[in-house]
Amino acid sequence: MSTMRRRSGRGTAAVLSVAVAAALLVLPDAAASQQAAGAGEVTFATDVAPIFYENCVSCHQENGMGPMSLITYDEVAPWAPVIKDRVESRFMPPWHVDRTVGIQQFKDDISLTDAEIETIARWVDAGAPLGDADQLPPPPDFPDRGEWQLEAEYGRPPDLIIYSDPYTVPASGLDKWWYPVVPVEGIDEPRAVMATESRPSIGSYAVTHHANSNVSKYAVGKPYDKMPANVGLLIEPGHEVTFNIHYFPNGEEVKDAQLEIGMWFYPEDDEPRIVVPWSRATASFSSLSDTDGPEAQTILIPPHGTQVTQGVTVLDKPGMIYSVRGHQHTHGAGQMIEAIYPDGRREVLNRVGWQFGWHITYTYEDDVAPLLPAGTVILVTAWYDNTERPGNPDPDQWVIYGRRSADDMSHMHIGYVEMEQEDFDWMVEQRRMKQQEQQVVQQGG
Ligand code: HEC
Repeated sequence: MSTMRRRSGRGTAAVLSVAVAAALLVLPDAAASQQAAGAGEVTFATDVAPIFYENCVSCHQENGMGPMSLITYDEVAPWAPVIKDRVESRFMPPWHVDRTVGIQQFKDDISLTDAEIETIARWVDAGAPLGDADQLPPPPDFPDRGEWQLEAEYGRPPDLIIYSDPYTVPASGLDKWWYPVVPVEGIDEPRAVMATESRPSIGSYAVTHHANSNVSKYAVGKPYDKMPANVGLLIEPGHEVTFNIHYFPNGEEVKDAQLEIGMWFYPEDDEPRIVVPWSRATASFSSLSDTDGPEAQTILIPPHGTQVTQGVTVLDKPGMIYSVRGHQHTHGAGQMIEAIYPDGRREVLNRVGWQFGWHITYTYEDDVAPLLPAGTVILVTAWYDNTERPGNPDPDQWVIYGRRSADDMSHMHIGYVEMEQEDFDWMVEQRRMKQQEQQVVQQGG
């Protein structure tokens, strides 16, 4: 409870209640970190390395996307002050969900707990000591790029792999875009996809900037997409996969770079209740009133100024949001998605910060993915900041709507399953029954 006492010292009543709630939420960890403190010095070997191995080194390793490796003490030590800054500001690990509002249960949440951040900060303040090297946990073992990340979870390699046509990336030159279209082969009947994972072929990892297709996304940090329980994506023989791959030359020619999309199917004898075509499994909700017509001018940010825009989308069929991902350019300062239900209730689903360069998909836990009746209004609010700050190319310019990085835009990419009414009612009922069961368990316990 040390967290609570220390924070309550500097707050108003409102801040205090937030701090209390936060302290209660992290109680088990707070208790653990207090134990560590009681035991003496916080060291890399015993306290910090386990946190880094769990939360940082998947990217911060020699072949990872992070700019430096954070595995050995010698690699980490020079970075200690910068690390403290980046974890306290929650810039690292890249997970920019506002923790004070909205849904907080996500699949594959890589963020740190308050207690972990406190441990790192105390370690840096104490001079970042190594401690007893014999106590270091074994460094994690990385699958080489030849292994699929979801393979361990599902206990088998993908059921189907789709390869983009090969492309040779030259040693130098400008960015290259590659848009091959590949028919689905290797299945002779429609199947329901439970998860997809994308990976660049061996050797092309360093030159693949981003890669999307109509059936998958390859984004930094999390190259896979998992569907919620009871929902599958329909894939059919002959279905066309259209790729959109952005390569950038990296000093060495890479021959025959390919993007590989692995797909895991639901078992044939256990097909999900809801099977949707890809085109009905995503949505894009704008925070502008209109991006095509004259209203597209709604972004107009003065030099050194700020702006807020809002856009609404009315759902004419019932559906479920299973993931959210923001999108803005260099002036983006964050977005919020709210649901206004047909009965008038208004709920903040999430507020996400925006860091240019990071496209993070936040996937809800199955039990909390918002179920939205027909008639629900989705309200997306976006904030822009054209003041002088890191990442803003030129605060002296007016900023308008547009596709160039110097312009700005704002929409949210949503993992969204549109449903028939009877399937929706069934999903609602499933969830109600599950909640009831959990209550019984809790009361009984
Ligand atoms: C999903 C991949 C990923 C994870 C997980 C991750 N990082 Fe990073 N990190 C990056 C990338 C990429 C950059 C550089 C890009 C940038 O600065 O925007 C970066 C930058 C940093 C920097 C700033 C380096 C500089 O030059 O200023 C620090 C410090 C850092 N990370 C520490 C951490 C720590 C500590 C953790 C775990 C608690 C962590 N990161 C987890 C990918 C990651």
